[in-house]
Amino acid sequence: MPQNIFTGLDAEGYDRGSTEMYDPRVLDPAVSFLADTANGGAVLEFGIGTGRVALPLSQRGIAVSGIDISSDMLDQLHRKPGSESIVTIVGDFATATMPGTFALVYLVYNAIANLTTQAEQVACFRNAARHLDPGGRLVIELWVPDLRRFPPGLPALPFTVSPSHLGFDEMDIATQQGVSHHYFIDGDHVTRFDSPYRYVWPSELDLMARLARLTLDERWADWDRSPFTSESRKHISVWSRSQS
Ligand SMILES: C[S@@+](CC[C@H](N)C(=O)[O-])C[C@H]1O[C@@H](n2cnc3c(N)ncnc32)[C@H](O)[C@@H]1O
Repeated sequence: MPQNIFTGLDAEGYDRGSTEMYDPRVLDPAVSFLADTANGGAVLEFGIGTGRVALPLSQRGIAVSGIDISSDMLDQLHRKPGSESIVTIVGDFATATMPGTFALVYLVYNAIANLTTQAEQVACFRNAARHLDPGGRLVIELWVPDLRRFPPGLPALPFTVSPSHLGFDEMDIATQQGVSHHYFIDGDHVTRFDSPYRYVWPSELDLMARLARLTLDERWADWDRSPFTSESRKHISVWSRSQS
């Protein structure tokens, strides 16, 4: 079973610590992209968390379900108005089953990397494919591994340095595993949050998709459908299940 790191105070503080991800300039294009891709069908979020994306999708009249390993994150979601129309279950999105099939399964905000082995990530693709209608689509938002900025011998790479948040990535090239270390600073009070991950290239995801009988349809640099290039820091990838 994968680790559940979004518990207790980390779940309580998740929305406060993610304000940049709630910025309408970040969130609205994501919600619009996912709503367009669902095309009126039901959707399933793997790693639904506190409902950052699920709630605005549901407010657009879309039937939204979600799986999350953290009951504390789901408690935060179900305290919010409008959450009563969202069906959730506690479970591992590599293996858990939500009743029904969906026009769209999606994992945003790098959630697939929370699975720290290749076997679990492959299982996640297969589990997503099992939940798709014929012709249904899987969307993943994930960063591109930052290895060009990680020279040999460097113990950790800073990814954010601000008065309220310091973040450093450790990466092990042999295993593709790492840990994001976050230090949130509030006056004299420092809160630490460590998030283990497995980094994965777009091409490796495409192979996982093929193992799950999914085909790559689109790859963009961001939700605004800007072109994905060798300079892109993240990608939005869309795979589909065949119609038959
Ligand atoms: C970075 S948060 C993203 C939450 C939400 N999707 C968002 O965009 O704000 C990752 C979420 O995935 C959940 N998660 C991580 N690994 C999981 C797993 N193996 N199965 C189910 N949920 C998982 C965490 O509990 C957390 O709620």
